[in-house]
Amino acid sequence: MQITVLTLFPEMIMQNAGVSILGRALSSDLIRINAVNIRDYANNKHGKVDDYPYGGGAGMVMQAEPVYRAYEAVTKDLNRKPRVIYLDPKGRTFDQKMAHELAAEEELIFLCGHYEGVDERVLNEIVDDHVSIGDYVLTGGELPAMVMIDAIARLLPGVLHNGESAQSETFENCLLEYPQYSRPEVWHGESVPEVLLSGHHENVEKWRHEQSVRKTLQNRPDLFEKYLSKDL
Ligand code: ADE
Repeated sequence: MQITVLTLFPEMIMQNAGVSILGRALSSDLIRINAVNIRDYANNKHGKVDDYPYGGGAGMVMQAEPVYRAYEAVTKDLNRKPRVIYLDPKGRTFDQKMAHELAAEEELIFLCGHYEGVDERVLNEIVDDHVSIGDYVLTGGELPAMVMIDAIARLLPGVLHNGESAQSETFENCLLEYPQYSRPEVWHGESVPEVLLSGHHENVEKWRHEQSVRKTLQNRPDLFEKYLSKDL
């Protein structure tokens, strides 16, 4: 998968992308990430890409032309328009289902806004989806883009080494994941639940399912409703 991020802060993307599982996926060429600096497409020698909002109001607006020129530069050699996602607190909320949908694309472009937003006209022209990562406002789209890229990348074939882990997890079946334990058997006086030491696979599965149900009911009753209404 090829991911391009249009941003005023490419280093925020590339620093994050280079580590951990995402870094490994980049090194093994399972995913390619290219951060393009919108400032390089400013039409003035000062690299200025923002201006005052028409109609007044606080803050500055990212201008349409530099964004459009950056977009044109990265898409000019493609034979089909890639899906363009604008990180936007007013957008549709990102979730695991959307992560799966986007993981099926060959090419994605993320557009990160700053200041008071981006001129609506260029958004209307190039953006396919306005996506929010949650009901809070951040200073820019870079962290939300990284959140989405991370969630999408781990669904790509070969990125996770343990083939199981993308399946039995939180959100994949409308239940939160069960608790995990590792050595030592007793830590700070607390033992690992007996059943996990029993070697009885069926009982382990039953216990984990019960734990998942309990945690979901307690922390996410909204998700539990969904679980109940699923055709299981
Ligand atoms: N930009 C600022 N806040 C955001 C959010 N919550 N989601 C996506 N993009 C944003």
